[in-house]
Amino acid sequence: MFQAIPARIDAILRDAFLALDLPAEQARAVRCARPELADFQCNGAMSAAKSSGRTPREVADAAAAQLARRPEFAEVAVAGPGFINLRLAAALLAKAATELLTDARMGIADEGCGRVAVIDFGGPNVAKPLHVGHLRSLVLGESLRRLLQARGWRVIADAHLGDWGLQMGMLTSALRERDPGLPWFHPNDAGKWPDAPPVSLDELERLYPQAAQACRDDPARMARARADTAALQRGDAGLLALWRTLRELSLQAQQRDFAALGVQFDLLLGESDAQSIMPAMIDDLRARGIAQASDGALVITVAQPEDRHPVPPLLLSKQDGAALYATTDLATLIPRVTQMRAARILYVVDQRQALHFEQVFRAAKKAGFCPDTQLQHVGFGTVNGLDGKPYKTRQGGVARLADLLDEAIDKAAERMSESGHGADLAPEEKARVAHVLGIGAVKFADLSGDRESGYQFDPERFVSFEGRTGPYLQYACVRIQSILRKARQRDESMGTPWPQAAAERELLLACLAFPDAVAEASRQLQPGVLAEYAFQLAQCFSRFYATCPVLAAKTKEQRSSRLAACELTGQVLARALQWLGIDVPERM
Ligand code: ARG
Repeated sequence: MFQAIPARIDAILRDAFLALDLPAEQARAVRCARPELADFQCNGAMSAAKSSGRTPREVADAAAAQLARRPEFAEVAVAGPGFINLRLAAALLAKAATELLTDARMGIADEGCGRVAVIDFGGPNVAKPLHVGHLRSLVLGESLRRLLQARGWRVIADAHLGDWGLQMGMLTSALRERDPGLPWFHPNDAGKWPDAPPVSLDELERLYPQAAQACRDDPARMARARADTAALQRGDAGLLALWRTLRELSLQAQQRDFAALGVQFDLLLGESDAQSIMPAMIDDLRARGIAQASDGALVITVAQPEDRHPVPPLLLSKQDGAALYATTDLATLIPRVTQMRAARILYVVDQRQALHFEQVFRAAKKAGFCPDTQLQHVGFGTVNGLDGKPYKTRQGGVARLADLLDEAIDKAAERMSESGHGADLAPEEKARVAHVLGIGAVKFADLSGDRESGYQFDPERFVSFEGRTGPYLQYACVRIQSILRKARQRDESMGTPWPQAAAERELLLACLAFPDAVAEASRQLQPGVLAEYAFQLAQCFSRFYATCPVLAAKTKEQRSSRLAACELTGQVLARALQWLGIDVPERM
């Protein structure tokens, strides 16, 4: 099993400290901020000196003398009051790099050991096209799905469709208003209704906002929508059959968007799937006194004395008995725990829903639904326009996801023709590359940085081949593959990556930090950590490639060593992009 470089150094430092009767907790090394001075640095002599009655400098000198005997270091020096500067031996880097290259898991620890992690992401609503608000959930969710899988979790990705609740009653009652003669609204002894929906996708997507507006404007329409919702949830056969056609119609369109984004789900369950357990769950919660009547509704009190902000009770059901958003989330949790045996459930949902999840999680724990399951809300900030406010179309409406992606793909195509990328590709191949670059550009921008902050949607900048962008990374991958391809054509042999120049050491050190970057990204549930790592690695590669000729290197040894460095970088970068959910074109 591959051992990370910092862990190897710490083990050596620990031996040296123990041999000198120094506290082993201080035997820690960190990457040196100034690579021209050292690769790693140990600052432990300062605090170790306190307990030993010696000066930090004496302690550092003594430890350095021990360390200098070790073959793992090329140079050991003491600087300032007692910093121990360590330069790793080329042999250690070569050995570790070879181990990483041949390790089937690429050094990634098996954290999950086959335990189940359910990831709830996407969450599109029936009758509404996917819009800008869904972008982050899909992109972050997909990356977390891949990251956790790489870390040994058995991931179950569930889209949790918004397919129940009042919006459905708004739709069916609007359809009834428009055309009372539709078969679904009439008794039908045979229990057979048409499979085809009564509207086209376009009509459906126009109908929903109109229906919602009408309900807001007219209490009588709202009352009819509520009545339909309640009837549907009670199992009215005609309404259910109609509902099924509408759900299917919009799901087909949504699946096209999922595919365009390269997002995969194991389950396309929805809020409606909680219906069969909700009545019993509510009865049980009432019987156990966990849910209480309040103002004609049924609530679960979840406030805690130490709360700094008020956490209002979770609303379990209203007077008409219709299921609410929190009710479906609470009920959905039950089969995830009991049937799927989830050790953890992650909800990749807008940060603005933080309070909702706090209520649901507390209620679930209070009810004893998930004693051993970890519940985590993976919140994220908004996608903003260039004005810094949540993104709107030029007409001021909600931007469709498909339109946003098309815009990025168009920009990527423009940028390709300006820069001459893909000039020798056939038109359809060029279009495919523009697609991969445009989507990669959006995904990289979306994943970068702290997910809890918002960011500005600026496809012009996202598709640039320079700087922190998806295409920059994609191009780095393509370039490395092209070097390796040429090397194969020339029958160059691949050796051990043996670093000589500074840029070679930096490149290998960057590659070797991959397992730690993956661990950190998955621990914090922050794909941004991996995105930043990938960018830094690509930059190291650029510096290496600018100063260290590979195929044009003079000696065979140098060529084979540098080729191995390219191979390792290529593998690490490809994995990093894969786990970010970013595809790489073969050529560009
Ligand atoms: N459909 C919801 C919405 O559009 C998102 C669902 C998030 N997931 C969940 N389990 N609540 O706001």
